Amino acid sequence: MSAEQRKIGVLAVCLGNICRSPLAEAVIAKTVAEHGLSDKIHVDSAGTAGYHIGARPDPRTVSTCEKYRVPINHRARQLKEKDFIEFDYILVMDEDNLYDARRIAPKNGKAKLELFGSYGNQGIVEDPYYGGIDGFEKAYKQVSISAGELVKHIKKTHGL
Ligand code: 4NP
Repeated sequence: MSAEQRKIGVLAVCLGNICRSPLAEAVIAKTVAEHGLSDKIHVDSAGTAGYHIGARPDPRTVSTCEKYRVPINHRARQLKEKDFIEFDYILVMDEDNLYDARRIAPKNGKAKLELFGSYGNQGIVEDPYYGGIDGFEKAYKQVSISAGELVKHIKKTHGL
């Protein structure tokens, strides 16, 4: 088993894995680093759809990360059955993602499948793809609050 697999695994999931979930991944990873937990918590992201496999994050996600000095480096990939075995938390952005993720989940999956916005009462993180930069700004604010609450929850639950 690799060192990465022994870490607590957090996987952010949206539809295309180019807008919201890479943003969430980057913000969670930064929050984890700020808590000095990068050697304990592994963060990744994936999409329920395969439209953009191999693509870099949307330029608006990248510019939002640059604005808030959040390092981002991801290539889009699709959510797969194995993720439900390897990750502890699979955190989706909206109800469609939840429905689609449930269809991918194997029976023996161990991951907790939840709406990411349930951490910190942020509700649904809406798809900003067809809108303007303001949608990315809104998503950034939501995922920042949720990331803080998630890390607090993980610290408490796993005794870190
Ligand atoms: P995301 O946004 O799910 O936040 O990455 C989208 C990206 C691409 C598409 C839809 C949503 N698309 O239809 O290609």
